[in-house]
Amino acid sequence: MSKYQIKKLQDPSDKTALEKKHVPYFVDVPDKVKKGEYFKVTLRMGKEIEHPMEEGHYIQFVALYADYFQLARADFNPEAKAEVTFNVKLEEPATLRAFESCNLHGQWESSHEITVE
Ligand SMILES: [Fe+2]
Repeated sequence: MSKYQIKKLQDPSDKTALEKKHVPYFVDVPDKVKKGEYFKVTLRMGKEIEHPMEEGHYIQFVALYADYFQLARADFNPEAKAEVTFNVKLEEPATLRAFESCNLHGQWESSHEITVE
């Protein structure tokens, strides 16, 4: 894998331990929203395994994008839990993409399709 490649979940039916604690998890995010109305996007790192938050190994940030447009971002110190809720709105359908960075294990991405009515 290239140094500059973003890591993603490879096989949903056979997740590695690294994937279980690094792939950003969209918690109860709707598939469909109303145009221009705020909705909540909760991101947790990770899903099956909570990522450690300690000196030397922690989630540094998570950023939320609509396609390639940044909507919001949260920075973490080891004292914080690697979870955040953003309130965002969309004017048109988009792929929500979450990027997170672990200081030891690099950058990870996951996505969630949203339709707008
Ligand atoms: Fe990590």
